Amino acid sequence: MRSSPATTPASARPAPSAQSGSWPRPDSTTRYGSLSRTLHWTMAACFAVVFSAALAHYFLPDTPVEAFLWPVHKPVGALLMLLVVLRLAWTLANARRRPPSVSAASRWGHRALYFLMIAVPTIGLLRQYGSARAFSPFGVPLMDERPGERIDWMTQLGGLLHGELGWALLALVAGHITMALWHRRRGPQDVLSRMTD
Ligand code: HEM
Ligand code: HEM
Repeated sequence: MRSSPATTPASARPAPSAQSGSWPRPDSTTRYGSLSRTLHWTMAACFAVVFSAALAHYFLPDTPVEAFLWPVHKPVGALLMLLVVLRLAWTLANARRRPPSVSAASRWGHRALYFLMIAVPTIGLLRQYGSARAFSPFGVPLMDERPGERIDWMTQLGGLLHGELGWALLALVAGHITMALWHRRRGPQDVLSRMTD
């Protein structure tokens, strides 16, 4: 439901460019704009790839499925690190004109998603750096090989937390998707349309 410009305070109204259909359409208090949506759905697709690879690594070790999926885990995970930094900056810049959270649970759920979206790839990259092995996601030389310069605390931190927090993120994403669908079918407000229509 959209409020009429006559009754909506100026600060809550979409910018003029939002109404003229220019790209990127900014966020407004009733819907996410085009850049927010592009980031959300592109990252959701990347997370599907990264989690499929992690599930294959855990449940189907030494099978053709793992051999096919696992090599994309690190490069796509590194891409997600870049995307989440851009997304966080865009979210903070637009914080005042985004659709309001429907509940405290949804507000804190989104914050927890951001925390884990940052923590999991950061710890993965730290672990990679600590291993002193070269890392070139999509051919971009991000880390050089450093023979004999292994950093144990980084690899241990990764061994301890990366997978655990990764599974916690997967559980949170499952809850997030469930709640989005629940709100569409039974909830007081269809929040999915904010991200799709
Ligand atoms: C947001 C992005 C990422 C998510 C959600 C994620 C998630 C996961 C999960 C759930 C596991 C556990 C799999 C298992 O126990 O078999 C895992 C393992 C692993 N991840 Fe990631 N990961 C991400 C990014 C990265 C990055 C950027 C790197 C390194 C550059 C990385 C390197 C690894 C490695 C080496 C393992 C295997 C650990 C082991 O076998 O003990 N991940 N990841
Ligand atoms: C099929 C998959 C997904 C669906 C249907 C979905 C649905 C939605 C919907 C409807 C909203 C708006 C909620 C509101 O305004 O109250 C939203 C926002 C959000 N979603 Fe998802 N989502 C999906 C996947 C993901 C994934 C994989 C992540 C992160 C790992 C994620 C993170 C977020 C975050 C942080 C927000 C808050 C807005 C923002 O800062 O972008 N979503 N999602």
